[in-house]
Amino acid sequence: MSAEAADRSAVAQVATIDFHVTAECSQECPYCWGPQGFEEPVDTNTALAIIRRIRTVGARRIVFTGGDPLQRPDVGELIHGARAVGLEVALSTTGDRLDSEFLEANAGCLDLVSLPLDGSTEEVSCRTKEPGHYAAVMGALELLRAYPAIDVKVCTPVTRHNLADVPYILRLVEMYAETTAARVFYNVFQAFPRTMQEVEWEDLLVSAEEFAALRRELAKRRRVRVNWLDHETLDRLYVMVFPDGSLVVPQGTEYRSYGPFLDIVDLDDVLARSAFDSARHLAHSRGWSKNPELPVADRRARRG
Ligand SMILES: C[S@@+](CC[C@H](N)C(=O)[O-])C[C@H]1O[C@@H](n2cnc3c(N)ncnc32)[C@H](O)[C@@H]1O
Ligand code: SF4
Repeated sequence: MSAEAADRSAVAQVATIDFHVTAECSQECPYCWGPQGFEEPVDTNTALAIIRRIRTVGARRIVFTGGDPLQRPDVGELIHGARAVGLEVALSTTGDRLDSEFLEANAGCLDLVSLPLDGSTEEVSCRTKEPGHYAAVMGALELLRAYPAIDVKVCTPVTRHNLADVPYILRLVEMYAETTAARVFYNVFQAFPRTMQEVEWEDLLVSAEEFAALRRELAKRRRVRVNWLDHETLDRLYVMVFPDGSLVVPQGTEYRSYGPFLDIVDLDDVLARSAFDSARHLAHSRGWSKNPELPVADRRARRG
């Protein structure tokens, strides 16, 4: 085996795995690319086995996402389980269920909380979110100030409904960053045309040119780290476990399923045969890591 081949076999292709622990959510965002349906997600024991396996396949970080992971009564147990096996833990939540009780119980196990914000005002937010979502996210951000060790990420899928508002959302995120000791990131997504529901995409999507122009307009605003995710970047970026425990590697408009995650013997082999763009994924994941200098987990070292 060449040295290069040996390196490839030692280092996992995936740094972060998104575990969609439920499809349940209080919102019905028209662009939602999360899983829909899945009325019987995996039970707690299976979810914990998936979490352990996410660690042993070499990933360093887990993202609990959905739907809204806080719709699962056992989410705290899953978060503690992920921390116990040494994973960095991110929580991508809708925000309206994030309360002080949850934070008190789980803050010590959370590295990052990600919240969606579709507008800088209730009026803009309401175009794609339910009434009250904007206020709920503001409340969640307020609560998170008491936990500066938890990074905060605000995310906006850019659509025709909020394209003109993104500079104001960024200003809001910058103002928040000035009032907290936590690291604050802002993820700007070019809403991606992949969903499990019927969608009139023409009413929603912004073009590559519009997205690039927005990025140029906001290029000099650097008080928070802004991460621009256009269609090209977003495609083939993620490795996911869906609520039924299946491995999904989305490509273009398709959710490609590779069967039960727990049945997969060699994840790297599956990923190598999929369209997953490991190099882009690893570069993207490093951006959020608290220890970006650490190499991606070495499976052989951990097994030994
Ligand atoms: C599927 S959601 C699940 C977590 C939580 N419910 C939320 O919305 O943050 C995860 C992230 O994907 C983003 N998102 C959802 N649909 C999208 C799409 N079609 N294109 C780009 N981003 C999308 C959301 O804004 C959110 O930041
Ligand atoms: S809040 Fe998140 S999971 Fe819920 S519908 Fe919107 S994008 Fe989908």
